[in-house]
Amino acid sequence: MSKITAAITGVGAYLPDYILDNFELSKMVDTSDEWIMTRIGIKTRHILKGEGLGTSYLGEHAVKDLLEKTNTDPLDIDLVICATVTPDMFFPSTANLISYKAGCKNAFGYDISAACSGFLFALVTASQFIETGAYKKVIVVGADKMSSIVDYEDRSTCPIFGDGAGAVLLEPDTEGFGLLDYELHSDGSGAQHLHMKAGGSAYPATIETVTNKWHHIHQEGQAVFKAAVSNMGDVSATVMERNNLSVEDVDFLVPHQANMRIIDATAKRIGLPREKCMINIDKFGNTTAATLPLCLWDYESRLKKGDNLILATFGGGYTWGAAYLRWAYDGGDFSR
Ligand code: UT7
Repeated sequence: MSKITAAITGVGAYLPDYILDNFELSKMVDTSDEWIMTRIGIKTRHILKGEGLGTSYLGEHAVKDLLEKTNTDPLDIDLVICATVTPDMFFPSTANLISYKAGCKNAFGYDISAACSGFLFALVTASQFIETGAYKKVIVVGADKMSSIVDYEDRSTCPIFGDGAGAVLLEPDTEGFGLLDYELHSDGSGAQHLHMKAGGSAYPATIETVTNKWHHIHQEGQAVFKAAVSNMGDVSATVMERNNLSVEDVDFLVPHQANMRIIDATAKRIGLPREKCMINIDKFGNTTAATLPLCLWDYESRLKKGDNLILATFGGGYTWGAAYLRWAYDGGDFSR
């Protein structure tokens, strides 16, 4: 019997309407379009406004888009995994809320917390359920409302992040398409450089934690930058080498969108020209767990069945990894 692999058979997304541009940011903190474009490469980011709207709102709409595009009955979905570091609440899981709102009544669901690597970690986790034959239709959502934890008085972090969600449908394949290899890593010593200190069990919310701004992202940019550049490049190279993939064999690098300079450095490390990199950081910024599915969604119409993709990511934790994925359908063909 041929091996079962987990193939992505559709991509959906949701980006909130409000667009925060560099001009508006420069009125909030001491920054400029020129600095942000040169050091990070972001022009605009989408922000979710509206009282009580959290990450599940983003995820719900991405999943509804996915179900509609792939003509899938929500009742046929077995499992929903949501990667996020900005859950609506600690419990229930955001995946649960998304499943309920999107009508996936027969699915079980849970969240995965691996920061910017969350989507890749969730994709690999979800694939195991498909490969074993346990389930046939699994949705992986990457969603984050980063504006809920960004300090808009901190110029070193507030230009970076945006809100958004992407979702993919995974189904079994026996013709060699889908997730073919991966390598994932974590290193808890990186926590000191990138974290949100309070709101968990170590520092539950108090007036002091709020006053100290411990409910916002703390990032030591240069330390994270160096670790991201070396680890994303190395792990991508490892996955390519292990699968005998040359630069010519790779159709697209799908990199986490944290900084245009990190994307360029990763591409350079594996010898890939910029035109083979999926890039939308300029439009959406760093949406944490949503960057990878938002890239796939943005470039979907350009993808062809059989394209070789290398997904690469790095984020808080630290967490990082890369995956080799063979694309399973011609992009833009939503009549499947
Ligand atoms: O997705 C999760 C993983 N996260 C990442 O991968 C992020 C990795 N880090 C980075 O992308 C970059 O380190 C940042 C974008 C966060 C910062 O860029 P940088 O080139 O490392 O800048 P820096 O922190 O070394 O700061 C350089 C200067 C400083 O001024 P002085 O001390 O040289 O006078 C900062 O105060 O730039 C200043 N600066 C700014 N100036 C204008 C920092 N932020 C801004 C700003 N506008 N927004």
